[in-house]
Amino acid sequence: YSLATHNTLGIDVSCEHLIKATDELQLIDTCLDAANKKRPLLAIGGGSNIVLTDSFKGIVVLIATKGINVVEDQDCFHLSVAAGENWHELVQFCLTHNMPGLENLALIPGSVGAAPIQNIGAYGADFSQFCEWVEYLDLTTGERVRLDAEQCLFDYRDSIFKSTLKDKAVILNVGLRLEKEWRPNLSYGPLQQLSATTLTPTMIFDCICATRSSKLPDPAALGNVGSFFKNPIVSSEHFTQLQQEYPAIVGYPVNVDKVKLAAGWLIENAGLKGHAIGGAAIHLKQALVIVNVDKATGADVCTLAREVIQRVNQIYSVYLEVEPRIIGAVGERELNDA
Ligand code: EPU
Repeated sequence: YSLATHNTLGIDVSCEHLIKATDELQLIDTCLDAANKKRPLLAIGGGSNIVLTDSFKGIVVLIATKGINVVEDQDCFHLSVAAGENWHELVQFCLTHNMPGLENLALIPGSVGAAPIQNIGAYGADFSQFCEWVEYLDLTTGERVRLDAEQCLFDYRDSIFKSTLKDKAVILNVGLRLEKEWRPNLSYGPLQQLSATTLTPTMIFDCICATRSSKLPDPAALGNVGSFFKNPIVSSEHFTQLQQEYPAIVGYPVNVDKVKLAAGWLIENAGLKGHAIGGAAIHLKQALVIVNVDKATGADVCTLAREVIQRVNQIYSVYLEVEPRIIGAVGERELNDA
C-alpha cells in the first residue's frame, strides 16, 4: 500500500498494512492488536507533520473518526471532538456556529487528534490555550486515559505526547473550551492593522488565511510539513552578540534572559533559500519550510535538513531542532540516523 497520499510531503513509500479507522472501536482494536502482537504501529491523522524515510514494516492506521459535541454553561462552550476531525474544518464549524476563539489557528493542516502532540500554534495563539482535556488510548495497558490540560505539559511545539507518552498513546478525543466572551487576539504583527472597533472573528479568520496563503505553500500543490525547524531559544547575551554582527537579526524576548530567534531569518540570511538536495528544497517564500519540488525521498529531506542545521550552527552557533517527526521502517527515529 502506498502512503504517498497520506503524508503532506508527498513522499512515496509503502507499508505492509493500511487500515482506515472510521469508528473508535475499530481504531482501538487495530491499535491494541498491533501492540499485543508487538508489530510496529504508525497512527496517521492528516500526515502533515511526518517525514517518511522508509517503507513501513508494520501497520499504518489512518485515524478517520468523526464527531463534534458541544455543551454550554454560562461562560463557555465545551467541545468534545473526535481525533479524526480536520482541524481547519473545526475552526470553520466553530465560527459558523457563533463560537469564536480559534480563528488565529485557521488553515493549520492536520487533524484534531494531532493538534495536542506538538501543541500547534500560529499568529499569537496556540492549542494549549483552548484545551480542556485530551483522551488517549494507552497502548501498554489498553486503557482509555483522560489528561487535563495541565497534565499534558504543553510548551512551545511540545507536549507529554512527544516525551513520556511517545509511542505509548493514540489520541482518541480532544476537549476544548471556548469562552463566550470573545477576546480578539491581535498580538501578531499583520493583525494589528485591523480596526478594533468594527472587528469580527471572521475578519481575523480571513486575515489569517490570507497571510498564511501568501507565505506557506499549500500542501496539495507543493508537498511540505509547514515549519521544518523550531524557532530556537538563546540567551540574551548570545542574542546581543549576534545583533552586533547581524543588526537585522529577528528575535522576540521570551523572558528577561531568553530570546526566541526567527529560524527563517537565520536560514535565509545564510543564503540557503532555494538550496536543494535531490527533490527537496528550501522554500523561496519562507525559509523555514522544506518543499518537495520533484519526487523527493525522505533521505533527500533529511540530508537537506542536516545541511541547514550544520550551516546555521557554523555561522551563528545556534542549534536548530527539527519540528516534524522522522519515521523510519519501524517507527520514529533521530534525524542524524535517517
Ligand atoms: N523570516 C525571514 N525569512 C524567512 C522567513 C521568516 O526573514 O524566510 C522572518 C520574517 O521576516 C519575520 C520572522 O522571520 O520577521 C518570523 O516569520 P513568520 O512570521 O513567517 O513566522 P515564523 O517564525 O517563521 C512561526 C511558526 C509558524 C507560524 C508562524 C506565525 C514555528 C516553528 N513556526 O513561523 O508555524 O505559522 O510563526 O505565527 O514556530 C508550523 O509550525 O508549521 C508553522 C507554520
